[in-house]
Amino acid sequence: MHSISFGSDNHSGAHPLILKAVEEANNGYWHGYGEEEYTARVQDKVAALFGKGAKCLFLMTGTGANVLALQSVIKSYEAIFCAETAHINMHEAGAVQKFTQGRLIVIPTPDGKLTPGLIAPHISLMADQHMSQPRVISISQGTEYGTIYSLQEIKVLAEFAHANRLLLHIDGARLANAVVSLDCSFEEMTSACGVDLVSLGATKNGCLFGEALIFINQDSAAADAVYYRKQSTQLISKMRYVTAQMETYIDEGIWKQNAKNANAMARLLAEKLSEIPAVTVTQTPQINAVFAILPAGIIPILQEKYHFYLWNEHRNEVRLMCSWNTRTEFVDALVEDIGKLV
Ligand SMILES: Cc1ncc(COP(=O)(O)O)c(C=O)c1O
Repeated sequence: MHSISFGSDNHSGAHPLILKAVEEANNGYWHGYGEEEYTARVQDKVAALFGKGAKCLFLMTGTGANVLALQSVIKSYEAIFCAETAHINMHEAGAVQKFTQGRLIVIPTPDGKLTPGLIAPHISLMADQHMSQPRVISISQGTEYGTIYSLQEIKVLAEFAHANRLLLHIDGARLANAVVSLDCSFEEMTSACGVDLVSLGATKNGCLFGEALIFINQDSAAADAVYYRKQSTQLISKMRYVTAQMETYIDEGIWKQNAKNANAMARLLAEKLSEIPAVTVTQTPQINAVFAILPAGIIPILQEKYHFYLWNEHRNEVRLMCSWNTRTEFVDALVEDIGKLV
């Protein structure tokens, strides 16, 4: 255990109110698998955040949400476009390919963000019976590189997707951070922009476990997803513990409060690092991640005290993640140690 970690927003614990909600859900006997009115009501409440026509399912992991979103709309001869840096490409051990049997078309990007211009050349090559057929564009909001799509960029991607008979999926493991960063609502960032499917993360932002999948005007996919959820082992029997967390997460505004702190700490860290001449901050942080190039020699020394990942070993670029419970003192301590070492 490290007393301070910039390794991942998963390294932080759960918010005390989330733990309290779980404790309260621990009383009495409940039907399993979400087959009580409580889960249906909270799923509706979460769906309502995404506007009219949204339906919600709860599941266990972010990988599960991505798999299920894509599996429910993909045939085995179809393809999904994603950025090279996408979690579905880099860090899901081929789960999407296994469950959808479809093809991932992986596109290099400078900043983790797809654009119609980057996707279009691939589509024009695919109008052929020998090729997997394009079906979904999957983007991460915020991206794995700490950047975000503006609402206009999402709208343009959705229009491009629909004009080409594709769907737009958001991997929203950090959607709350992006919503806070752009000071908009979940609805403005998704259905109002034309998004079709959203994996909504909660674990990284102060929950214990549990995620949501949102279908926007995709009723038949939402109906199929119930069965795919079971097949992909994402249906938890004691669903009440996910439901209770989600209700508190939304009702008490924990999603917002936590994301605000995580983003603010990343901004502060980037500002302070930018003042050290030997350090280069490579992306302006728009969510809770800071990417910076450090002098190679100091990285292992720092890692004895703080946990963080080397993002790109060829250029000594590290990823420093802030989370809902990162404190100013933690940022100050890291910056001071870097300052002393360079
Ligand atoms: C962008 C992104 N998507 C999805 C996930 C979900 O991962 P998990 O299956 O570990 O909950 C993560 C976790 O690191 C992530 O960073």
